Amino acid sequence: MSVRMPRWVDLKTITDRRGSLTAVESQDESLDFDLKRVYFLYGVGSSETRGAHAHRELEQLFIAVSGSFAMTLDDGVHQTSFTLDAPSRGLRVPRLYWRDLHSFSPGAVCLVLASDAYDESDYIRNYEQFKQIVLTSP
Ligand code: TYD
Repeated sequence: MSVRMPRWVDLKTITDRRGSLTAVESQDESLDFDLKRVYFLYGVGSSETRGAHAHRELEQLFIAVSGSFAMTLDDGVHQTSFTLDAPSRGLRVPRLYWRDLHSFSPGAVCLVLASDAYDESDYIRNYEQFKQIVLTSP
């Protein structure tokens, strides 16, 4: 199933007195695309903003595996902000959403699962161009 709207995804989490374990599997509902790449952001200062781009095709799942941060997603018309602060929950971000990542807590780690390899040609880094593309995209 593909999604066109951002949505929260509850991740399978097993907690006992030793702590917690969270799993993401391609075969279950937590990941609805084929995983091709994993990367993570860390050491981001609280006043820094990352992102400032959209992707033409890339599908992603964002997880705050440590600490917290905020994501503002823009579909070309509306902006919505999400706080990621739980390792047991991911934010599924479809293609064609402009994103800003900000308000990182000290020690925050943002894990990103992605549907494809890194490809700069998949990026839209100009906001006006993004609006043109998204408003004419089916
Ligand atoms: P970028 O995606 O712009 O980072 P952010 O959205 O977090 O601000 O990428 C920053 C730099 O890292 C840019 O030069 C591209 C490079 N990069 C890779 O080489 N591989 C990757 O998987 C990613 C996500 C980025």
